[in-house]
Amino acid sequence: MAYVVTDACIRCKYMDCVEVCPVDCFYEGENMLVINPNECIDCGVCEPECPAEAIVPDTEPNLDQWVELNAKFSAEWPNITVKGDSPADADEWKDKPGKFESEFSEKPGTGS
Ligand code: SF4
Ligand code: F3S
Repeated sequence: MAYVVTDACIRCKYMDCVEVCPVDCFYEGENMLVINPNECIDCGVCEPECPAEAIVPDTEPNLDQWVELNAKFSAEWPNITVKGDSPADADEWKDKPGKFESEFSEKPGTGS
């Protein structure tokens, strides 16, 4: 089992999660972060830290898309271990529905 980042992270990217993860298993895309399921130790510390409530345990129902997406892109995107600056308009994207369809990017972030 692992925790997964869902579409609520897209264009919010607050990165509070990065600060608390004891095993540095977050990976950075252009618009969102993902968790490497093989590295996550399932501690749950990051879940309440996310202001967008984007992080959930993979035991919740209907998460197949996000489980797959976290596994795929954590193998492609750079590791991020230090919280950077969130997008200036992050709060405007918080709680917006349908962000995956219009805003998801496969491009990597810069990592740190
Ligand atoms: Fe890191 Fe723990 Fe969150 Fe997994 S559950 S991503 S180990 S803080
Ligand atoms: Fe994303 Fe939440 Fe982390 S918005 S970057 S999962 S704190």
